[in-house]
Amino acid sequence: MMKIIFWPLVTILGLSVITASNSYAADNRRALKAAQSKPVIRGGIVFKHYCTLCHGQRGDGDSRSAKLYGEIPLNINPGKLEYYISIIRLGGGKLGKSEFMPPWQNELSDEQINDVAAYLNVVSNPEHRGEVVYKTNCILCHGVNADGKGRAAKLYNPPPANLTTSDKNDDYKRMIITNGGKAMGRSEVMPIWSEQISAQEIEDVIAYLRTVLKK
Ligand code: HEC
Ligand code: HEC
Repeated sequence: MMKIIFWPLVTILGLSVITASNSYAADNRRALKAAQSKPVIRGGIVFKHYCTLCHGQRGDGDSRSAKLYGEIPLNINPGKLEYYISIIRLGGGKLGKSEFMPPWQNELSDEQINDVAAYLNVVSNPEHRGEVVYKTNCILCHGVNADGKGRAAKLYNPPPANLTTSDKNDDYKRMIITNGGKAMGRSEVMPIWSEQISAQEIEDVIAYLRTVLKK
């Protein structure tokens, strides 16, 4: 049962899975298990069942039925949670949008509607997606607060960088995240992430890192 739910979820959220050979795989598995009890993860399941047909796997409107709707955009823009909840509950017509967006209040429970809105709030926003990537892959070394104080930090010298005070620009971050520390003449403890996460996830995590910078 666990496995059946687990693997599609990983794809839905774009969460990356660390290979079992890594010493921190067990911690990542624990983190993912905890994540499954959260609204966003439950919302991902609702989205997959009821919404991907029109909105596409990632909510970007790239779906099988897109052609049927011609000019009507099926992508979900970054928006407020309350707006998502109303349009999902009442349908597009009631909010001055396309009638093709059905009302879901009779089909889904309040909890399901809240969960799927929370999920959309994450997937439609690069910074929120990046936070998921960060929390799934980086906290063990760089810490929950991105201050370089992860639980594994004391094992390493030089220590994982404090990302809240980084003086490196996005291009540099893109290179070290993609190619690893060694390729940049730095510690090889900083992994080569292009082997584990997608180029989109790398962009998303860079967007998230911008939000943790202390000004
Ligand atoms: C039959 C096709 C269809 C299905 C199924 C569908 N939608 Fe929609 N949805 C639309 C259309 C069409 C629009 C665009 C309305 C417009 O822009 O005029 C839309 C718009 C939206 C919007 C507003 C997007 C924005 O950027 O303003 C949200 C949020 C949304 N849908 C969520 C959902 C959720 C959640 C589900 C599943 C529970 C779902 N939709 C299922 C067709 C669909
Ligand atoms: C196994 C531990 C480990 C993990 C996991 C890890 N890093 Fe690192 N990272 C390091 C270490 C160690 C350094 C410092 C290398 C040095 O100073 O030579 C570093 C450096 C960096 C830097 C350079 C920052 C600067 O200011 O110079 C960035 C950016 C970075 N990591 C991002 C990430 C991201 C994003 C993730 C997750 C996708 C991640 N790291 C996961 C260990 C890790």
